[in-house]
Amino acid sequence: MDEPRISSLDDLNIEGRKVLVRVDFNVPFDGNVISDDTRIRAAMPTIDYLLDAGARVILMSHLGRPKGKPDPSLSLEPVAMRLAEILDMGEVTLTDSCVGDGAKQVVRDMRDGHVVLLENLRFHVGETANDPHLAKEIAALGDIYVNDAFGTAHRAHASTVGVPSIVRDKAAGFLMQKEIQALGALLGDVARPYIAVLGGAKVSGKIGIIENLLERVNVLIIGGAMANTFIAATGGTVGKSLVEESKFPLARDLIARAQARDVKIVLPTDSVVADNADSTATQTVPASEIPDDMVAFDIGPESSAAFKEILGRAGTIFWNGPMGMFEKEQFSTGTTTIAKAIAGSSALSVVGGGDSVAAVKRSGLGAGFDHISTGGGASLELLEGKVLPGITALACEV
Ligand code: 3PG
Repeated sequence: MDEPRISSLDDLNIEGRKVLVRVDFNVPFDGNVISDDTRIRAAMPTIDYLLDAGARVILMSHLGRPKGKPDPSLSLEPVAMRLAEILDMGEVTLTDSCVGDGAKQVVRDMRDGHVVLLENLRFHVGETANDPHLAKEIAALGDIYVNDAFGTAHRAHASTVGVPSIVRDKAAGFLMQKEIQALGALLGDVARPYIAVLGGAKVSGKIGIIENLLERVNVLIIGGAMANTFIAATGGTVGKSLVEESKFPLARDLIARAQARDVKIVLPTDSVVADNADSTATQTVPASEIPDDMVAFDIGPESSAAFKEILGRAGTIFWNGPMGMFEKEQFSTGTTTIAKAIAGSSALSVVGGGDSVAAVKRSGLGAGFDHISTGGGASLELLEGKVLPGITALACEV
C-alpha cells in the first residue's frame, strides 16, 4: 500500500488565512527564566514562511504537565515574550485560554502578518484526553492546520490528532519535515558501520529502542548508569551504583540476541566513582569491580578512549543519553569525550533525547552534528519503528 501523503507548506494557499500551528514550546526553565530556547528558534522557519506568505499565525503549545486546569506557574507568558524578541515584534499577544470568547476575540482582531499564542493547551483536561469537543473549538479558530511540534508527535492529543482529523487543509511544518527526514534516514540503508551510543539512567525506559537498534546497528555502545545493569547482570560488582535488578534477565537476553546477530555490545571497562554525587574525591576503578561503598558516576578514561576509537571508524552514529552525571563537572569528562568524538567524526551523526542534546549544547559542539533532534520521547519512538500519531494524523483525509 502507498504511504499516505503529507502536504508541505508550499502545497497550501496561505495568503490572508488563519493558520493554526501546533508548535512544541515545552522549553526548560531555570526559575522563571527560559534556560534554552532552541525549541522556539527551531519553529522559526515555519513561522517566518507563514508570515512572509501573508498568513495570520495562531501558535499553540503545551508547557509542562499541568493537571488539566490553569496553573499560573506554567503559563506560556515567558514564551510569548521570548517569541516577540526573536520575531523582533513589540509584543506577541497571549490569549487567556486556548479556547473561549477571549481567544475568539483575539483571533477576530488579527490582521495579515500578525502572530498570537494560545495559552497552554494542557490547562484543559480535554487536550491530553484528545476530547473531540475541545478539538472542534480549537479547529474553529483557524482555516489551516500546521503541525511543527515534532517533540509532541508521539502524543495522541486534541491539538496533535483531534484538530487535524477535522481540518481539511493541513501540512507538516519545516521542523517536522526535517526531523522525520533525519531520523527516518536512520531506519533505512545507512553508511556502515552504524554505531549507536546509549546512556542515561535506566534500561527500562530504553528496551524498545535497544531491541530495534539490535536489528540495525553493527555496534551498540552502552554507557551511563544503564551500563551497570548489564555489568551486574553478567557477574560484575557495581557497589552502590544504580542498577535495575529486575532487568538482569532482560540484559542477559539482549546480550545473547546481539551475539546471535553479530552485533557488538560494548560496555565500559572502567568507571569514575565517588561515595556520593557531590563528592569531588573521585577514583577510577574497573567497571566490574566497584568497591561496596562507591557509586559509578561516569565512564573512566580507558572506556572513553575505547569508545572514541570505535566512533572514529563509524559511517553512521546515533547517540541518546549521557555517559554519566555530566551536570557535575567532576563527572562530565566521559560525556564530553563522546560528544567531541562524534562532532569530530565524518560519519552521519544524529543526537536525540533531552540530556544528550543538553550535553552537546553545553560543550558548544552542536555544529559538528548533522542533526540534533528537538524530540526526546518522540525521537526514540520513531527510531523504535513506532508510528507517531501526530504524523499519521497529518495524512488523514477529511
Ligand atoms: C517533550 O518535552 O518531550 C515533549 O514536549 C512532550 O512532553 P510530554 O512528555 O509532557 O508529553
